[in-house]
Amino acid sequence: MGNIFSDRISDVPRSFIREILKITLDDSVISFAGGLPNRDLFPLEEIKAATAKLLDESGKDVLQYSSSEGYKPLREWIAARYGAKGLGVTADDILITTGSQQGLDLLGKTILNEGDSVVIEEPGYLGAIQAFSIYRSRFHAVPVHPDGIDTEGLRRSLQDFPVKLMYCVPNFQNPSGISYSEENRRAVAEMIRQGNTLIVEDDPYGELRFLGKDKPSFYALVPHNTVLLGSFSKIVIPSFRIGWIVARPEIMEKLIIAKQASDLHTNYFGQRIILQYLRDNDIEEHIKKIREAYGVQRDAMVSAIREYFPRGVEHTEPEGGMFLWITLPEGLSAMEVFNKAIELKVAFVPGDPFYVNRKNVNTLRLNYSSVDAETIRTGIRRLGDVLKSMVG
Ligand SMILES: Cc1ncc(COP(=O)(O)O)c(C=O)c1O
Repeated sequence: MGNIFSDRISDVPRSFIREILKITLDDSVISFAGGLPNRDLFPLEEIKAATAKLLDESGKDVLQYSSSEGYKPLREWIAARYGAKGLGVTADDILITTGSQQGLDLLGKTILNEGDSVVIEEPGYLGAIQAFSIYRSRFHAVPVHPDGIDTEGLRRSLQDFPVKLMYCVPNFQNPSGISYSEENRRAVAEMIRQGNTLIVEDDPYGELRFLGKDKPSFYALVPHNTVLLGSFSKIVIPSFRIGWIVARPEIMEKLIIAKQASDLHTNYFGQRIILQYLRDNDIEEHIKKIREAYGVQRDAMVSAIREYFPRGVEHTEPEGGMFLWITLPEGLSAMEVFNKAIELKVAFVPGDPFYVNRKNVNTLRLNYSSVDAETIRTGIRRLGDVLKSMVG
């Protein structure tokens, strides 16, 4: 058989991170490469109890097909939680998706024609680059700094191109760990307010703040120009694949059509179990536990970096989330560092896959959520030895 594949799929490279994760399956490797929540914090007993209760009480109802929008009481729960934080959202504004990753795909399907302009953060979330690439979008990378997106770069992109989507992760960004300051958010909102660009505000980590104060969401600042994505992956468990999109009615209508075409609806049993779990347990207490644990792990990583990394290596100081970003001295390739680090049994993700048009970069991502504090110190010391041997 000849080449049967669509141009759409042929153009999208395999995930480089998957290749790296294969190397790190070796138990003797200390891996800062993954992007996984800490499994020790999964509420196993509570999920077990919620599942048993649901099957006992609701029987076959929970095994049936359901609505494309998602289970209404779950959407009401999510809307009420936004309400408690001052965001005016109703259940009808929410579409349950198969992870927030599906939200990105549905938005691509709904909004993007081939060649349409998308602003993406640099470095940016690999899953968004992949999702929008399938729709053959044209990316405009705008750098992020410790206090948010580069407003001058954004202004230029918005002026020079008819940007349809601006994709961003304003809280504890993947991969860099940075957050947009309130001032930065207000400046971006002002630029977006007048135009035809839709902000895709991806917020899977917003609840995982261990330092500082919450900042206003774009959905609060410019609701008519924003869709907001959320997820249970990082605050409960990722395996159910349950996330959501908050969107205004005219966008919601199209998203529901795209959702029906994709998978009819998100796993209904999973939605019911999550809601049962949320009703029977104190989610605030659970999230607090996650925040505290990640805060300790983040502190362990930052202090080990200060102690063991040579001068000239810079790092971000995340106030939440799961990642930290390293910038090596100019000219040093993170990929070369990776190859040496693996010999010393420590892994990370070199920066390359997080850029849409740069290669052999001098940046890298470190994950601290799934490694305990002591192992973090050992891994960072090893990485420090590699860097010292290369920085000269
Ligand atoms: C920024 C960002 N968006 C979306 C996702 C996907 O999350 P979900 O499990 O809800 O699909 C991730 C997962 O790592 C992420 O980092």
